[in-house]
Amino acid sequence: MLTLGIETSCDETAASVVKDAREILSSVVLSSMELHKKFGGVVPEIAHRFHLKFINEVVEDAIKKAEVDLKSIDIIAATYGPGLMGALLIGVCFAKSLSFALNKPLIGVNHLQAHLYSALMSNRIEFPFVGLIISGGHTALVLVRDYDKYTLLGQTQDDAAGEAFDKVAKILRLGYPGGPIIDKLTRKANSKGIKFPRSYLGKDSLNFSFSGLKTAVLYYVKDHYNNREIPKQDKINIAFEFQESVVDVLIHKSLFACKQYKVGRLAIGGGVSRNSRLRERIYKEADEENINVYFPDYKLCLDNAAMIAGLGYQLYKKNYVSDFYLTPKADLSVSFMPVRWQASLNLSPLLSF
Ligand code: KG4
Ligand code: ZN
Repeated sequence: MLTLGIETSCDETAASVVKDAREILSSVVLSSMELHKKFGGVVPEIAHRFHLKFINEVVEDAIKKAEVDLKSIDIIAATYGPGLMGALLIGVCFAKSLSFALNKPLIGVNHLQAHLYSALMSNRIEFPFVGLIISGGHTALVLVRDYDKYTLLGQTQDDAAGEAFDKVAKILRLGYPGGPIIDKLTRKANSKGIKFPRSYLGKDSLNFSFSGLKTAVLYYVKDHYNNREIPKQDKINIAFEFQESVVDVLIHKSLFACKQYKVGRLAIGGGVSRNSRLRERIYKEADEENINVYFPDYKLCLDNAAMIAGLGYQLYKKNYVSDFYLTPKADLSVSFMPVRWQASLNLSPLLSF
């Protein structure tokens, strides 16, 4: 079966055609990141307008690159949340129209579940497994028992992991987005003298907190440089130590969750899963605990529509058809509400005319 996936939750307009569960026939991602750079973060209004302007082209391109006909698409899957409301609306409305025009089922896909599914597209992972979602907007640990069965084990109480990378890069004036810049620069770190705190929030907690770390970096910079330009090597060393703190906490809590729930499999998804230091360290440390770690392929770590199409197909097989009642959900809290619940909201009396 062919699924057309549509993703517009933040600053990427993306469409993809996936055959069955994981064969990616095309994956088109058009990012508005360049337009946000000078503001140091995503500006919702700019992102919304960008989606509106390019969604037709991106979808057409995905169909063309997959070398299929629009009429041969069997399922349409779209991200319904979490994300920016204006951005989600464009993708969901576009998908609804296509579903109506082509008379094909529409599946609403949760963006966070899809980030974990990207690890499943790249690896064979048995259920249950522990999932670590580390993106620009979310950080969470979940126990995944099936494509539609998620239990939230813990989440960030303040900043997300990716957000912390972006904010620390801003403090160090390294540019946006901070994650890839810090990842690359810190390979040249040469001093281990600096030490930032690790926030574990209690011995058994599976929640996260990164804002204290960010503030520690801010005060370190204020105390040591007092508005003077920070020498390049010092920036690299500060960024390295910040990254070590984030990686320490992510690894500790993920492995702890696996042990606590007696699950020997850990899947990681979201933009921060590209981080090379995390990848290098977690494989080794998990191996010592007999835990297998699974990452998505690099091209599937950041926002994309292939993960939406792939999970959409799995949910379709479980009868999660959303049809016309799919409503975007912009609530940015980690929510794993099944889409079926949304689909069962009966709005037909309001809609009949
Ligand atoms: O999953 P994603 O593409 O978007 C959201 O759903 O939020 O994640 C984007 C985040 C950004 O905060 C970015 O700085 C971070 O992922 N990121 C990284 C790396 N590449 C992207 N963080 C650390 N290391 C990287 N290599
Ligand atoms: Zn994302």
